[in-house]
Amino acid sequence: MTEINKQEIDAKVKEGLPFQHRWHNRFHLEMPFGLINDPNGLAFYNGAYHIFYQWNPLGCVHKNKSWGHVQTRDFVNYSIPELAMWPTDEHDKDGCYSGCGFVDDNALRVFYTCNAKDENGVRTPAQRLGTFRSNGTVRKEEIAVPTNEKGYTGHFRDPYVFYRRGKRYFVLGAQTEGDERGCVVVYREEAEGNWTFLGELKTKMTEVEEKFGYMWECPGLLTFGSHDVLLCCPQGLEAKDYKYQNLYQSGYFAGHVSLDSMEMYHGRFQELDRGFDFYAPQVFNHEGRYILFGWMGMPDRDEDYPTKDEGWMYSLTMPRVLSLRQGHIYSKPAKELRALRIQETAVELDAAETKRVAAELSEGAEILLDVTMGKAQQMYFELVYGLEKVVFHYDRHTQVMTIDRDGMKLGGRGKRRFKLYADENFSLQLFVDRTAVEAFFQHGEEVATLFVFPEKNILPEFCLTSDKPMESVSGRVWELDSFRFHGK
Ligand code: FRU
Repeated sequence: MTEINKQEIDAKVKEGLPFQHRWHNRFHLEMPFGLINDPNGLAFYNGAYHIFYQWNPLGCVHKNKSWGHVQTRDFVNYSIPELAMWPTDEHDKDGCYSGCGFVDDNALRVFYTCNAKDENGVRTPAQRLGTFRSNGTVRKEEIAVPTNEKGYTGHFRDPYVFYRRGKRYFVLGAQTEGDERGCVVVYREEAEGNWTFLGELKTKMTEVEEKFGYMWECPGLLTFGSHDVLLCCPQGLEAKDYKYQNLYQSGYFAGHVSLDSMEMYHGRFQELDRGFDFYAPQVFNHEGRYILFGWMGMPDRDEDYPTKDEGWMYSLTMPRVLSLRQGHIYSKPAKELRALRIQETAVELDAAETKRVAAELSEGAEILLDVTMGKAQQMYFELVYGLEKVVFHYDRHTQVMTIDRDGMKLGGRGKRRFKLYADENFSLQLFVDRTAVEAFFQHGEEVATLFVFPEKNILPEFCLTSDKPMESVSGRVWELDSFRFHGK
């Protein structure tokens, strides 16, 4: 276990702000150094949103997993990030892995997986509680579950607390022993601090012979009215048609959970995001809003991210607000982000019977676009960086959106394809940060998150072209401000 010194790390973060490097994002959370991954411990407490995240403050490798922390009241102004928890004892010596946050008895509690490996690499995962203190650190407290249950391997992690009929439960990502099948297990709190193992939450995926992945990471359980949504990140799915095109997936089942029969009746597995760089999202509820943060990154794909050579890696997505309609999750950017709009640029995207509109973008930009397709069958939404570009191509015949990064030199390349049911009207809300791009299609029916690392220091041009004239295009473009970090 490497010694980690909070004072030194916190001081170094302060020195690293505001970011200088042209690849550092302005309105996405990231660290000046080290590697961040999953959002953790999301909760609203004491008048502010608390956002923790996995962080190796010592380098750009998946080691020394600690928890960083920021808080915000408005998703625009943030506290300066600080180190909140790091490996300190035999339980979490190989990482303070992912977990959730919840408010109890006027305290912000966290619940995380302690990762410990023996000399043969065998894991002993313990699920442990903690309390966030006013000095900015987590006090590590009781171990709720000391190790994996019989019948499950050491891949047993990422607790997420939920409530049913006044009782507290948590779901956990797991892998069965023997057939090594990914699944979710459930625990219920009995007396204070006493947790009963209820077993696997059986899904329809257990009825099909083939397993649906070898591990489900970062589960979550949400309730929208009378419908339940089980979130999970299955690993080991084969890409097919328009599905599962990333190395690991993030998605959900919508339906009904019975904790009596420990079964879920549900529809098909749906993905939460269609881009290249999205994984391990966490969702929390505040005043009726389900707010999601995702990790902008992908495990085991570090070679796709050239910021590694600059000393930092990965970002978190912007906060998204979720709603469930007809069994499908819609994601929209949190309305607070409108406060980032500095000014509407003079660029007009309004046109009729045209095959091309374009706008020069500022360093941070938001584009809101509505297209009545008319005769157009093929549309190309491009971000052009000099000789490089990313293309969002919509084919109306097949109703397929393709995101193509092959026109970029650095970073991950390739294509992502997905079905998008736009008929006559197409709508896009596009956020373009220095390297982070988030695209919301058809008012949040689909979302795509991706990084773009332009080789040259060039601001992008947004350009929409079509094969035949589009009946009408109406669009607005804003220059966006940066997040602001405030010291104590
Ligand atoms: C997902 C994940 C989690 C684990 C954490 C470790 O990205 O693998 O399952 O808790 O990252 O950093």
